[in-house]
Amino acid sequence: MIKKGIILAGGSGSRLSPLTKIVNKQLLPLYDKPLIFYPLSILMLTEIRNILIIHNPNDESNFRKILGDGSGFGIKIQYKIQDKPNGLPEAFIVGEEFIKKESVALILGDNFFYGQGFSKRLKNFAKNNFGSTIFTYSVNNPKDYGIVETHRNKILNIKEKPKKTSSKQAITGLYFFDSNVVNFSKKLKPSKRNELEIVDLIKIYLKNKKLKVEEIGRGSAWMDTGSIDGLFETSQFISSIEKRQGQKIACLEEIALNKKWISRSSIKKQINFYGNCEYSRYLKKLI
Ligand code: TTP
Repeated sequence: MIKKGIILAGGSGSRLSPLTKIVNKQLLPLYDKPLIFYPLSILMLTEIRNILIIHNPNDESNFRKILGDGSGFGIKIQYKIQDKPNGLPEAFIVGEEFIKKESVALILGDNFFYGQGFSKRLKNFAKNNFGSTIFTYSVNNPKDYGIVETHRNKILNIKEKPKKTSSKQAITGLYFFDSNVVNFSKKLKPSKRNELEIVDLIKIYLKNKKLKVEEIGRGSAWMDTGSIDGLFETSQFISSIEKRQGQKIACLEEIALNKKWISRSSIKKQINFYGNCEYSRYLKKLI
């Protein structure tokens, strides 16, 4: 059972400059909420309530302004600095004290997932994680991603941004790892681009026969929010669905209320905090 989760919310966000010259990427709006609400909602839906947000120097106060210590959503949030974007596996080195000897989920702060039955599947995988579980999604441009090559359900290879591959299964920004992840990450060597690579970490689990790959089917969405077009298109996607259904994606208070982690009075506090806005009116309807 995985009870701890890390959101990696640093990075340079160079593709989103000039926006990211003032504000960290995960605090930018994705339609009607800050980007970080979406990966946080995924951890909450997986029933992970103990969360570490890893951020760039000087950003903690901004994240705190909107998320605080997590009590407004019935969870516990801690914060820790990553000095420089030295690569994704550094999350497990920065997060060593938080992880202790337990399994952990990592989600990238700019990843958007959506789909029927997704949270139920995630809860199941979190319960049955031995080693590592990663999630893949079929993409049109495999050479831009870490790719898993398989043959008849057997994992053959993991390749970072392959020039040539017959596989379209991209590794998404959600990963489950057992507690060995801290020591494995410490042993990694920086790649040519001078970063620790998540693909190298995953390869260790593959070599040890401890890797499980779960495909997120075509009925679900995994969207890129890291480019200007991606951010805009994902916003439009969320807007379309929310307007059609009258239900919000990644409303953290709604998830917490449904799970009975918070009471109606906590929702009232949140309404006061957000003030007179559409998000508050949505919260009012819930209670
Ligand atoms: P990337 O999209 O790889 O990088 P980036 O966010 O810096 O953006 P760009 O490529 O435009 O410069 O990062 C994926 C996510 O992981 C993103 O949410 C930032 C986060 N991240 C860190 O927090 N620390 C890191 O060392 C790296 C590499 C990424």
